Amino acid sequence: MDNSDMKQIQWFPGHMAKTRRLIASNLSLVDAVVEILDARTPLSSRNPEMDKLTRNKPRMVLLNKCDLADDKATQLWVNYFKNCGCAALAVDCKSGKGLKSILPTIKNTVLKELMEKRAKNGMTGAAIRLMIVGIPNVGKSSLINKLAGSKRAKVEDRPGVTRTKQWVKLDNNTELLDMPGVLWPKFEDQDVAIRLAFTGAISDDILDIETLAMKLLSYLAENYPASLTERYKIELSEEDKGFELLEKVGKKRGMMISGGEINTERAAITVLDEFRSGKLGKITLEAPPQKEQ
Ligand code: G4P
Repeated sequence: MDNSDMKQIQWFPGHMAKTRRLIASNLSLVDAVVEILDARTPLSSRNPEMDKLTRNKPRMVLLNKCDLADDKATQLWVNYFKNCGCAALAVDCKSGKGLKSILPTIKNTVLKELMEKRAKNGMTGAAIRLMIVGIPNVGKSSLINKLAGSKRAKVEDRPGVTRTKQWVKLDNNTELLDMPGVLWPKFEDQDVAIRLAFTGAISDDILDIETLAMKLLSYLAENYPASLTERYKIELSEEDKGFELLEKVGKKRGMMISGGEINTERAAITVLDEFRSGKLGKITLEAPPQKEQ
């Protein structure tokens, strides 16, 4: 992508250092780490230091928001993570799809050795402790609320209360460590930042809204042309660049300003909103790397 028109994203290394310390100091309290990613952007929504941060802890990846992602691509991503030695499941915290498989997968796969050791020592009742991590907006709170039910106290919503780490009980012998602190994605990679802006995971003002929508339209025309022709009833031609596509959408939707010009800003807002809410169909924004990274 040509990202020369992009604003530099501000991020705060201090926050990351604090979160890094929190994870490091709590790692010994848990048996496994559950990492939540966005199924539409599995690598872009990943904290680049996760391998280093969680060291050798058994780990599981959840590809959340699979209701918005391309099912075939999600399956490729599940296989990709499995080939990297990490259990992976596609889940949807909105409908609850896939959530019932999380704890059995952890017990039977991720923590198989530990469970066998405990069974041998007559300790099958001992609690399993999990740490849940993920960049903002990926669905951590939704997951915890779905798994723990409504009993969970929402400490972070009370003004003046500093959020500390909380143990959330999932069942009689599973506890989840809900960590405060913010894990950042790999902001300094501009393609990553653009994909995250497409999904709304980070503020979309890294680019002006029209440029962002044009980039999304170009990606869709190349990878999911039917989603554009079906949703907007437009015809695509080989020569169409992002701007022509944006104009076609605006024109078709009757978004005009005085003088017969097309209101491309309104069209841009519409395209991004409709993509984010799934109205353009199930779309994935990146494919697994060919080789393990
Ligand atoms: P976080 O704690 O990691 O920051 O994420 P959070 O659970 O707050 O979720 C961020 C947004 O993503 C929420 O939408 C949430 O509803 C949505 N979300 C979470 N999981 C899924 C999923 O599997 N599928 C879909 N389609 N959306 C999901 P929001 O617009 O911020 O709030 P609201 O729509 O719930 O009011």
